[in-house]
Amino acid sequence: MHQILRNLDKMITNRTFTMLKPDSVEKGNIGAILEKINAAGFKIVAMKLTQMTRRDAETFYAIHKERPFFGELVEYMTRGPIVAAVLEKENAVEDFRALIGATNPEEAAEGTIRKLYATSISENAVHGSDSDENASIESAFHFSGRDTF
Ligand code: CMP
Repeated sequence: MHQILRNLDKMITNRTFTMLKPDSVEKGNIGAILEKINAAGFKIVAMKLTQMTRRDAETFYAIHKERPFFGELVEYMTRGPIVAAVLEKENAVEDFRALIGATNPEEAAEGTIRKLYATSISENAVHGSDSDENASIESAFHFSGRDTF
């Protein structure tokens, strides 16, 4: 119980949630992307290879459900396995978003993960939480306190 409470507490400022999306797994880029994540100073505190169901993807991306790309997004995110992970570092949310780069790889800075590995704005290799609150919610969607170190 203390471990769970300690993890919840850490989630507030030092943790973010990521998914290496189906295109990253299909192209054999898991190792290269994890290496960049580690080299940037992030510690992996939870990780698994898993596949989202349609219901999972519709729930996870509910905020986008009115967007014209929602159907395409759900198809893409459910078509094969992903790697879900919780990452720890000071200023994790902001620093990780800088590491992955802009949503559209054409606009992503040189050296960012999306610039290096994304295919397009829709198949953009990785997810990174956009706030501490969403990092907590998204981590809890994929992991229990017992899976997280
Ligand atoms: P992400 O920012 O991780 O979460 C929302 C996802 O929706 C985004 O990554 C892309 O995979 C997808 N997405 C965002 N904008 C577009 C778009 N204009 N067309 C298609 N897919 C998009």
